[in-house]
Amino acid sequence: MIDTTLPLTDLHRHLDGNIRAQTILDLGRQFNLSLPATTLETLRPHVQVTANEPDLVSFLAKLDWGVKVLASLDACRRVAYENIEDAAQHGLHYVELRFSPGYMAMTHQLPVDGVVEAVIAGVREGCRDFGVQARLIGIMSRTFGETACEVELDALLAHRDHITALDLAGDELGFPGSLFLPHFNRARDAGWRITVHAGEAAGPESIWQAIRELGAERIGHGVKAIEDPALMDFLAEQRIGIESCLTSNIQTSTVAALEKHPLKTFLEHGVLATINTDDPAVQGVDITHEYQVAAAQAGLSQAQIRQAQQNGLTIAFLSEQEKQALR
Ligand code: ADE
Ligand code: ZN
Repeated sequence: MIDTTLPLTDLHRHLDGNIRAQTILDLGRQFNLSLPATTLETLRPHVQVTANEPDLVSFLAKLDWGVKVLASLDACRRVAYENIEDAAQHGLHYVELRFSPGYMAMTHQLPVDGVVEAVIAGVREGCRDFGVQARLIGIMSRTFGETACEVELDALLAHRDHITALDLAGDELGFPGSLFLPHFNRARDAGWRITVHAGEAAGPESIWQAIRELGAERIGHGVKAIEDPALMDFLAEQRIGIESCLTSNIQTSTVAALEKHPLKTFLEHGVLATINTDDPAVQGVDITHEYQVAAAQAGLSQAQIRQAQQNGLTIAFLSEQEKQALR
């Protein structure tokens, strides 16, 4: 189980995939929006996965109601604040929260850089009130194409000192990483760290591409690395971190069953793999649940669980000094 002598981290957690069902109801009422249901119980199947989805794109549709109620910048600030409150309640000491400001801004045409500012403010207030440490990762939602991603990137760069890293999320099959080379060049010029969702819907070539062309130091999911022995060796040798999200991979039909998840093999191979949530509210999970299924179903030994937890600190986007302070 979770080792209480080590810091508990979640390095792959979408702020806009973790909006409380109650908050969706509240904001719907506040802004007089029409929602598919008016009680928590009846809303839940619209905003939470109830049976595994056939693919990543249908899974991602479950996130939509959470952002459709973001009708003001204060609503964005609120969901960012509540994300930190939830992280504290779930026992996390350190979270890297990622968010797509363009996706959050989209329904009500909020100013994208205003969304970035609101999220920064909500996270700052949350960390002050709940004693959690957090860093922010900016997401470009590839699903909306290169130009929309440029708008997101511009807004994130306007607040570059408050953003730690850049990520690429969304429809990996429809929008390969090769479309976003100029975006990642700008991110690296800004001194940001890089993590990319890769090898989730697409194969190992997408992971190679993320590392070699986009400059990824960590990979979100990366499950398809298991199909390429040379890539497995490369990940271990180059200390490329893997952000595993077990339940998410089942719900998106990326992996057929937890018993077949490659996390255990990654760890046996010396890959710096970690246990994370992805979209906890949409998935109906928390970090403790993910550690539980890692042991009970994905077959990790207690030593491997501890290694994965330790890896969370090793690959965190923090300086060595900041890591020491977390211990
Ligand atoms: N956005 C939220 N969750 C995601 C996932 N699992 N893959 C890609 N984009 C995402
Ligand atoms: Zn993700």
